[in-house]
Amino acid sequence: RQTETQKDFLTLMDYSTSEIIDLLNLAKDLKKQGPSTPPLLKGKILGMIFEKSSTRTRVSFEAAMLQLGGHAIHLSTRDIQMGRGESISDTAKVLSGYLDALMIRTFHQSTVEELAESGSIPVINGLTDDFHPCQVLADLLTILEFKGSFKGKKLAYIGDGNNVAHSLMIGAAKVGMDCTIICPKNYEPKEKIVSYAKEVAKQHGSVVEVTHDPIEGVKNSDVIYTDVWASMGQEAEAEVRLEHFKGYQVNQELVSHAKSDYIFMHCLPAHREEEVKAEIIDGPHSVVFHEAENRLHAQKALLVRLMC
Ligand code: CP
Ligand code: NVA
Repeated sequence: RQTETQKDFLTLMDYSTSEIIDLLNLAKDLKKQGPSTPPLLKGKILGMIFEKSSTRTRVSFEAAMLQLGGHAIHLSTRDIQMGRGESISDTAKVLSGYLDALMIRTFHQSTVEELAESGSIPVINGLTDDFHPCQVLADLLTILEFKGSFKGKKLAYIGDGNNVAHSLMIGAAKVGMDCTIICPKNYEPKEKIVSYAKEVAKQHGSVVEVTHDPIEGVKNSDVIYTDVWASMGQEAEAEVRLEHFKGYQVNQELVSHAKSDYIFMHCLPAHREEEVKAEIIDGPHSVVFHEAENRLHAQKALLVRLMC
């Protein structure tokens, strides 16, 4: 089914439950087919603008395009004129004449929105300070694979109320999974996004909540998820954050309060011994490398829906 209403993929807020489920179903099919998928994107070109570093996002998008018979062009803002002040709007209009879709990893969500509004090609959010929707598409695929369904399942995210936390709350709410965000005081997710996710969850018979209590928050969880304490762009705060996040580490004591068959997830890159102990991320409950691989499959589905 071709997406009729969606030009872009800027945040999961814009996507309905059925559109998300459709992407997950297609991702499952494409994963089964492996690298020898039919060349659904033959001759198509994806541009990828990076204003921040990336391993998974860059390589999985590029591999996805190649496996689907297309091509990807890596554009660092260190090299392109946008990095020297060419306007976002002019960049979008120019690139619309060369490319079939554009992925961008940047700071402000407004940059992604302006690119999408100014250009005629699909724009994909490859991470902003506010959201990481591609990550969460892969995360939902991973949860489905390991837990079989979303209904009645609980995801406990512990750490910073950041871009990944925001997208997880929205994604969980849309598929009817319970989601608890556990964070230190002053590191809560944005209130507007929490209210939105709570409202969506209510419509789907699930619950989204925010707590400062790690043990209470992790209780009965099927998925424990964490992310770095200092995101890209927050390097100067890293040391003070180490102090503030003490007590919010995923370790043996904490996971003993989850369900005995919990899975551990992390979008990566990880800092062992900071947000998570090595024994957990490298232990038997960890699915982090399946999760990373699923970036490829989920994004193949997304690219097909946006570009075909
Ligand atoms: N998880 C994720 O987006 O990884 P990269 O920063 O390596 O792309
Ligand atoms: N929250 C992290 C995610 C990295 C994939 C960051 O924004 O740096």
